Amino acid sequence: MIEINGLSKSFGDNVVLDDVSFTVREGGTLALFGPSGTGKSVLLKHIIGLIEPDEGDVVVDGVSITNANRRQLNQVRQRVGYVFQGSALFDSLSVGENIQLGMDVDGCRLKKKECEERVAECLKLVNLHESVAGLYPIELSGGMQKRVAIARAFAGHQNYLLYDEPTTGLDPENAFIITNLIEHLSEELGVTSIMVTHDLDNAFLVADRIALLYEGKIRFKGPVEEFRESEDPIVRRFVSPSVETIHAA
Ligand SMILES: Nc1ncnc2c1ncn2[C@@H]1O[C@H](COP(=O)(O)OP(=O)(O)OP(=O)(O)O)[C@@H](O)[C@H]1O
Ligand SMILES: [Mg+2]
Repeated sequence: MIEINGLSKSFGDNVVLDDVSFTVREGGTLALFGPSGTGKSVLLKHIIGLIEPDEGDVVVDGVSITNANRRQLNQVRQRVGYVFQGSALFDSLSVGENIQLGMDVDGCRLKKKECEERVAECLKLVNLHESVAGLYPIELSGGMQKRVAIARAFAGHQNYLLYDEPTTGLDPENAFIITNLIEHLSEELGVTSIMVTHDLDNAFLVADRIALLYEGKIRFKGPVEEFRESEDPIVRRFVSPSVETIHAA
């Protein structure tokens, strides 16, 4: 379970997160929405301890990230796969080497052959041919890069996956393929996920809960249906932007 408890974070005068709390239950998929620049990526980075909060805490599997020592933080990071906004593959490493990075934060402890087998297995799970392992990120399309980034995130059998805009910049068909993949991973592997996205339609297909971050606060959290039917003008404006909803909010 991921618990976000009263998280606050400012950068100088810029208050990004202001007392944010929610939980993601075991096996659940939470879609995190919010306008650009509201702090969705900042929030995700707190979960793996890349950013320290000013106040509040993140607890993953009962371990407080804020109070964790280096060893505990590494243990949590091994359980949490992170698909960075824009994929963030290493250009100088092959696809196979990129995926191996996800297997173990201390480096691949498996033997070479076992490593290669796991890379092939991960590529298969994201619908890529094993020969892709020998290519370099620059040789892949944007959609393929996203799939490799996702393969890297779960290559170490992580129980948690954090996706930061996994479908942004993809054509509708590839966005749908990635969404299906996320759903498949959560069903097949039973992982618990948070998906930051602006892609509402695809998020509604996979998420069981929605959170809307707005002006530093959680404006809405709850089941998908409740979100779609909410009469909160800010939620309405977000679900179906129009001149009317924008003026009403
Ligand atoms: N390391 C940092 N130092 C200072 N300010 C930062 C830092 N990281 C993020 N910010 C600021 O925090 C705010 C939230 O940024 P964040 O990247 O989380 O937005 P976002 O909701 O992910 O937006 P988008 O949907 O465009 O990706 C922005 O104003 C950004 O400038
Ligand atoms: Mg972002």
